[in-house]
Amino acid sequence: MHDFHYVGSKLYCERVSIDSLVKKYGSPLYIYSQHTLTDHFTKLDLALAPLEHLVCYAMKANSNASVMRTLANLGGGFDVVSEGELRRVIAAGGDARKCVFAGVGKTEGEIEYALRQGIYSFNVESEPEIIRINKVAARLKKVAPIAVRVNPNVDAGTHAKITTGTYENKFGIAFEQVEGVYARASKLKNIKLRGLQMHIGSQLTKVKPFELAVEKVLPLVSKLAAKYKFEFFSIGGGLGIVYNPALDSGSAEWWQSPGNKQILTPASYASALVPLLQPLNLRILIEPGRFIVGNAGILVTRVEYVKRTGKKNFVIVDAAMNDLIRPAFYDSYHEIIPVLRGKSKATISSDVVGPICESGDYFAKDRPLPKVGEGDYLALLSAGAYGSVMGSNYNSRGLIAEVLVNGNKSAVIRERQELETIWERESIAPWLK
Ligand code: LLP
Repeated sequence: MHDFHYVGSKLYCERVSIDSLVKKYGSPLYIYSQHTLTDHFTKLDLALAPLEHLVCYAMKANSNASVMRTLANLGGGFDVVSEGELRRVIAAGGDARKCVFAGVGKTEGEIEYALRQGIYSFNVESEPEIIRINKVAARLKKVAPIAVRVNPNVDAGTHAKITTGTYENKFGIAFEQVEGVYARASKLKNIKLRGLQMHIGSQLTKVKPFELAVEKVLPLVSKLAAKYKFEFFSIGGGLGIVYNPALDSGSAEWWQSPGNKQILTPASYASALVPLLQPLNLRILIEPGRFIVGNAGILVTRVEYVKRTGKKNFVIVDAAMNDLIRPAFYDSYHEIIPVLRGKSKATISSDVVGPICESGDYFAKDRPLPKVGEGDYLALLSAGAYGSVMGSNYNSRGLIAEVLVNGNKSAVIRERQELETIWERESIAPWLK
């Protein structure tokens, strides 16, 4: 399910060798495969074909303009969470009428902008938000389409920091309160009740929690749909991907074994959910982010030093937690493989660390890796989702470049940030001059 593979000793993205890309564009570097992106989107879209549906890509996972354009060209809509994201959709050539707007803290300014662009629906997360949307819509003489995000209180069994569908989380409106909220909202003149939405968490590697949540919400959605003439039901995103082939799929060749039952695939997802959803006769929205883009991207980094202490073998690389924060933040696993593979199968237990002054600045701990030295390149896999977008300028490091590959073509889709631009919007307070 991705297009990164070895040809002989060289790692390739589609038909371009990674070493040629780092030679051309420098390091560290994010590299995305357009074919993988397209393939993931299309497989999901086809699996849902028995339903009237819209795939609204959760662009928070990766909002690069070229990634967005690829998905917009395939007919995708977008799940946005800020005015900035909606502006990005429009700048990338996407259709605001295919956008849903989520998030617990929409400001009046954001609501106004989204209403003016004619988005498909606000996915509202509280009653005060509905009142605010109604007020802004009245001022603009518009009717705002909304869907309540129901919190079904189902534990998705994923990492605590990415669980969103239990009452411990700030998201959505509690299952028991939803009917009352719709009843009150139906009295507001500038609100149109267009649907219902839910999202239970991210990186779900099993179908069961999706099934349980949909089963729990189904009676509610059919009742409300009949009462308020809904158009849609959004089942959110959260489809997990394989990060660690040994653990997540039971097979190192997971992408070559489509029959592998342990992997969440578009087919396994759809075969569980389509029969449940079909009788609703509603348009079904899904909001996948990671599933589309996660395995479509890698982060390539250069080995600067190898430092052996009494206890550890530290591989010090030029990428850092400011480029990919997931290991530091969620303890997450990213597979690490060499860009040029040696003949020896011998490995050495290594910590792969960045140059930032924090102990948390690591990509792997005690990982068996081939022996590497200064000037070698490593690829961190599955870095397409929540990688670049969560990047920062910590330690005054510039945001790194991003490249898109399509067949034998490659193009820079984000330039490496010039260091001076990091502080160009700062100034010296007048009394310090
Ligand atoms: N819809 C809503 C309302 C969401 O909050 C999210 C993700 C998605 C869709 C997309 O979820 P996905 O299909 O990508 O799992 N930074 C974390 C993930 C945070 C996810 C936040 N919400 C990570 O790196 O794992």
